[in-house]
Amino acid sequence: MTDRNNIRLASLVFAAFIGGIFLFDSCSQPGAMVVTREHISINDGWSFYKYDSESDTDPLIYDVRPEIDNPNEIKDADSKPTEAIAAEAKQMVLKPWILPTANDFISDPGKRHIRPEGNPGSDFPFVQASFDDNNWTKVNLPHDWAIEGPFQTGWDSEVGGGMGRLPVNGVGWYRKKLDLSTSDSGKSIYLDVDGAMSYAMVWLNGTLVGGWPYGYNSWRLDLTPYLQFGGENQLAIRVDNPNHSARWYPGAGLYRNVWLVKTNPVHVAQWGTFITSDEISGKSATINIQVTIDNKTQNSAEVEVVTDIFELDENDKKAGTAVASFEVLETSVSANSNSTVNGSLVLENPRLWGPLPKQQPNRYVAVTRLKQDGQPVDTYETSFGIRKVEFDPNQGVLVNGEHIQLKGVNQHHDLGALGAAFNTRAAERQLEILREMGCNAIRMAHNPPAPELLDLTDQMGFLVIDEIFDSWERKKTPHDFHLIFPEWSEPDTRSFIRRDRNHPSIISWSFGNEVGEQYTGEAGAEVAQRLNEIVKEEDPTRRTTLAMNFAKPDMELPAVPDVIGLNYQGEGIRQDPEFEGTDRIRTKPQYNAFREQFPDKVIYSSETASAFSSRGFYTFPVTDAISSIARDGRGGDSEAAHVSSYELYAVDFGSSADKVFGMIDRHPFVAGEFVWTGWDYLGEPTPYYQARSSYNGIIDLAGFPKDRFYLYQAHWRPDFPMVHILPHWNWPERMGEVTPVHVFTSGDEAELFLNGQSLGKKKKGEYAYRIRWDDVVYEPGELKVIAYKDGKVWAEKVVKTTGEAIQLQATADRATMAADGEDLSFITVQISDEEGLLVPRTNNLIKFTLEGPGEIVATDNGDQTDMTAFPSQERNAFNGLALVIVRAIAGEQGEIIVTAESVGLKEASVEIRTK
Ligand code: GAL
Repeated sequence: MTDRNNIRLASLVFAAFIGGIFLFDSCSQPGAMVVTREHISINDGWSFYKYDSESDTDPLIYDVRPEIDNPNEIKDADSKPTEAIAAEAKQMVLKPWILPTANDFISDPGKRHIRPEGNPGSDFPFVQASFDDNNWTKVNLPHDWAIEGPFQTGWDSEVGGGMGRLPVNGVGWYRKKLDLSTSDSGKSIYLDVDGAMSYAMVWLNGTLVGGWPYGYNSWRLDLTPYLQFGGENQLAIRVDNPNHSARWYPGAGLYRNVWLVKTNPVHVAQWGTFITSDEISGKSATINIQVTIDNKTQNSAEVEVVTDIFELDENDKKAGTAVASFEVLETSVSANSNSTVNGSLVLENPRLWGPLPKQQPNRYVAVTRLKQDGQPVDTYETSFGIRKVEFDPNQGVLVNGEHIQLKGVNQHHDLGALGAAFNTRAAERQLEILREMGCNAIRMAHNPPAPELLDLTDQMGFLVIDEIFDSWERKKTPHDFHLIFPEWSEPDTRSFIRRDRNHPSIISWSFGNEVGEQYTGEAGAEVAQRLNEIVKEEDPTRRTTLAMNFAKPDMELPAVPDVIGLNYQGEGIRQDPEFEGTDRIRTKPQYNAFREQFPDKVIYSSETASAFSSRGFYTFPVTDAISSIARDGRGGDSEAAHVSSYELYAVDFGSSADKVFGMIDRHPFVAGEFVWTGWDYLGEPTPYYQARSSYNGIIDLAGFPKDRFYLYQAHWRPDFPMVHILPHWNWPERMGEVTPVHVFTSGDEAELFLNGQSLGKKKKGEYAYRIRWDDVVYEPGELKVIAYKDGKVWAEKVVKTTGEAIQLQATADRATMAADGEDLSFITVQISDEEGLLVPRTNNLIKFTLEGPGEIVATDNGDQTDMTAFPSQERNAFNGLALVIVRAIAGEQGEIIVTAESVGLKEASVEIRTK
């Protein structure tokens, strides 16, 4: 590195303030700070209004939607998707004015959209500055208008179990005034929305600017031509969230961060950098950078592009001085156009990004500066990591030469009781608990996540499959993405990849989940081919993949993606004789068949298991099989709407964890699995649609591990000494009855004792993942297990019949939290006996209160059937546990005391400091 670089970087100053970042550059004129780019949070201070019913909303629709004959048309996840139904436009729709927003993401200039004459909606009161929105609700973003409920119960509720029984549907408006000073005049001003659910349309000062229909993508609007500088500007965003548009809870509204970006008219384009690395060894790596520059002026611009690379420390802070600098790149950008430059350098001794525990997720940041006539005009930062990802058909995935078996989970985007409103700490907590289990990979099912989630997976060293679509042309629900697929599949795919392509955690792009085009032969494969090409054009460095639950090796579709993702097909689907003659998917195990047909492609299971359970709930008898479908008498209890936690029961097309492990271990060429799902999620409560949230999670909706957590931990963390016993041992009604005891351990052998009496020492069998004592006769007292590994004591565990519930106990996940209005503390409240043991099957009503500079945001208990609205400060425990989520008030330092009380129990308090 040259001295010149040192001097230049030493004078580059970065300042951050809550909610935004200013990037300064003072290199050319020491002493004179120049703000070259501002990235300002505009999350606070919005006014929100939602129409009471879908039928009396304004007429400002994006497009007409087909009528729904049968809202329950598709319920089971693996139903065959069906053909789209045409809808006739009987009124003027705003779509022609919205489509031009997609233009930057449409490659063929002939296919780009031209904005028609006119300005629809301009006379509608909500878009006028003069409209008085004082009686609208005041909200801060991220905001999910549906999460506060109430839950809609019953079979004929408007929003059904599939979408979470919460009022997601309908039209909402968000308004906010933007103050822009005269000094901003001449700048380019953008509105960056990380995600709006859905069909967002934006007016500024009464003019329709544009919008973006797909709720999961991030998008930008150029506000510059419509702004008044030196005064207030009225922003109005209309969000229209159709019912029957998803198979899970989508959330509703401006549910992610929203930003105002101010730049000089010559600047790095939106997501305008792409950093890749190759020729990676321990000694050096070649780093390539591509920078796209926008020129929003009427004159061509001569631009110098300077990029320096810094290390990032584990707190995401730039460490020390630059470790390398690209050669200065020069380009001429025509008026109102853009230009792309490429550079590359060799970095010595790179600190590689790789997954834990053997590697470290080391990252770098590239700081790109643009100059015109020697004057700084823009500063743009790109975090990235250097890693070599290989896909080997015989082993699966290698990262920097280390074979990494994918021990993955699928995750939907909701954060349980917080809904879809993105919160970094809540997402981090999800990942922390998954990591504790030994999970090393996440599949973003089935849509792009909040950008901050990918920052977390980068920082924490998870591997990610980033996914975009659950449907293409054919539909799964009447109002899903298929309605906008023709116009938006290209722009959504391109923008998805441009946003996310610098994240080292992403190893593959999935452009479809169980799409209907699996069933349509060549026609379906053509759609896939087109999307696959788009993905490759945007990122030639990563493999593409599709998740397939129906397509077979000899069909057209699996030939398209680079990597074969199988949903449930590896274990076989509906193989039990009772499914003979069904018209649903029924298939023999498919790993070998796919390998024969595609010997050069990596195969992995994009979805496995779809096992069910309700934490702390057990039914008898227990199946002797290693996997069973769930029915009354076979793990299910349709009256309680709960499924047994013996962790042997799955959806009809799924399998228990044990069965999946066995199939993967028998097929070592399989790269690994993504379990459906890591955490329970809102909606899709198969098999009990009268409930509100899923049964599939390894971890319940509140974040409490189910027994299954320990089954995965035992298998995925073989070096971590642990042993777990199930069920609990409070069965007064089962005196003298057979009550199986199962043990999960990372050891290879275990001895079980009941009241001091050995029930035998047993070894784990080949392809067996639990040790079972299936004929234990219940008597109260103490179960104790000693686990062994290689003949040595490895771990011990005791489960006792508890005493009566006499007290509450409360613990916070962190003793201090930031008073930034965003950070959260998650408090677990447990119903305990005198000794402090959790008393199973207790569902006492608990009341929560808070003193100090904070608020209770939500409560939960992980019970899929609990219809108490999430903000409630009273909640029944579910099998001994409840959760309280607390937020500190922004800017107020102090002590928060949260107290839990319940009639007849000793109360508990917990203290959290905020700073
Ligand atoms: C799969 C589907 C997932 C989810 C799961 C539930 O078929 O891809 O989105 O629905 O089933 O078991």
